[in-house]
Amino acid sequence: MIQSSFTLPCGQTIKNRVCKAAMTERIAKGDNLAHQGHINLYNTWADGDVGILLTGNVQVDRRNIEGPANVVIDQSNYHLQMDTLKQWAAAGTKDNTQLWMQISHAGRQTPGEINSTPQAPSDIGLKIPGRNFGKPKPMTEEEILELIDRFVFTATVARDAGFTGVQFHSAHGYLLSEFLSPDINTRTDAWGGSLENRTRIHLEIIKKCREVVGSDFPISIKLNSADFQKGGFSAEESIQVAKMFEQAGVDLLEISGGTYEQPKLIGADNISINPDRSEVRKDSTIAREAYFLDYAANIRAAVEMPLMVTGGFRTREGMQKALESGICQVVGIGRPMCADPHCMKKLFSGEIDSLPSFEKTLSLGPWIFSPNSPFTLIQAINAFGAMAWFYQQIKEMSAGRMPDLDKKLLQAFLADTKADKLAVQDYLNHQS
Ligand SMILES: Cc1cc2nc3c(=O)[nH]c(=O)nc-3n(C[C@H](O)[C@H](O)[C@H](O)COP(=O)(O)O)c2cc1C
Repeated sequence: MIQSSFTLPCGQTIKNRVCKAAMTERIAKGDNLAHQGHINLYNTWADGDVGILLTGNVQVDRRNIEGPANVVIDQSNYHLQMDTLKQWAAAGTKDNTQLWMQISHAGRQTPGEINSTPQAPSDIGLKIPGRNFGKPKPMTEEEILELIDRFVFTATVARDAGFTGVQFHSAHGYLLSEFLSPDINTRTDAWGGSLENRTRIHLEIIKKCREVVGSDFPISIKLNSADFQKGGFSAEESIQVAKMFEQAGVDLLEISGGTYEQPKLIGADNISINPDRSEVRKDSTIAREAYFLDYAANIRAAVEMPLMVTGGFRTREGMQKALESGICQVVGIGRPMCADPHCMKKLFSGEIDSLPSFEKTLSLGPWIFSPNSPFTLIQAINAFGAMAWFYQQIKEMSAGRMPDLDKKLLQAFLADTKADKLAVQDYLNHQS
């Protein structure tokens, strides 16, 4: 079943049921343009035989980005990188692989060093210890309409460059998901309030995008099953939103969950930056291999469109069961693809039955610092620190090398922190 092909509502056929999930590459220079590193990276991943490669979040507005080394595509710079984007697309679509561009705007999760007044639905800022986020400036109606055009423009560039689909990022607390969250979107106009109003921006983007990319081009959305914040976007609301997306003609809905405040997307169940606002998940869901499968099952009961579930899949059995249950048609794989870009090919051939699962063992030191430490702060440092290890492996592959599995977490953490500081400086130097 994992290796069987399937056809999306738009008519495009995917060669198997596995998608490399979006992982921000963070390798662009201060000009935020795609370069040879992106081509190298996707060349390596495309050799891994998965059906769909999703890019990391490509941003629509240079002032509101998730990290200083993101790729940005807009009216002002697309012509400077079109040739590179074409080569990136050619590398990622080898062997009948689909390459979809994930398109995003970071909203209030834009680092404060980059923008101290990021765009967001309302002025409710993000408070994370040790991190700097500015107080957001609520978007005007004019800015919202401009933003919709930006999403559509970037999607059009992706298609023209040879990417075979797009995904709009409405998960993990970035701008589109902020519009859905009633605790973050407190607008009283047509873009806030009722669930229909909070979903309006998505529906406008999908409608306008479909008009320009055509009926046979895959359009996907990544949606939070819930924010896991009291008063936030709930699991019940995600079912209603999924129905609206189905009606709007979405080809594949990816289910994830959480935000910077509740990092459930990487399985960090015991960590909550704001514990008093945190919602606890049911034990059965946590215990299961795939973090969001129960939530996806409830969405599946309400819609027929293809679903993809991402987060936690590590075994052939786990993937097979999820697909056979009919809950999802595609499984998303993230971190294992950083440790071994060809791990799915090895699983297909029978060489392995489970994927590399480094996140379970990565640790800053002895047991007290282990991922199972009883101290929440240390767990948090470990979980966020571990992300650095994966970023570093992406950097290795972008330089044309294979992942360095001997790399220690602390070493990766220090290298990543230094690289991030330099990237911010490089970004600021390129500001006109
Ligand atoms: C290094 C890294 C970067 C990520 N960047 C993105 C991103 O750009 N867009 C996105 O939707 N999710 C992003 N994610 C989340 C992954 O897509 C995925 O949901 C998560 O890693 C859980 O899947 P896994 O358990 O298979 O790793 C990122 C995760 C990691 C580890």
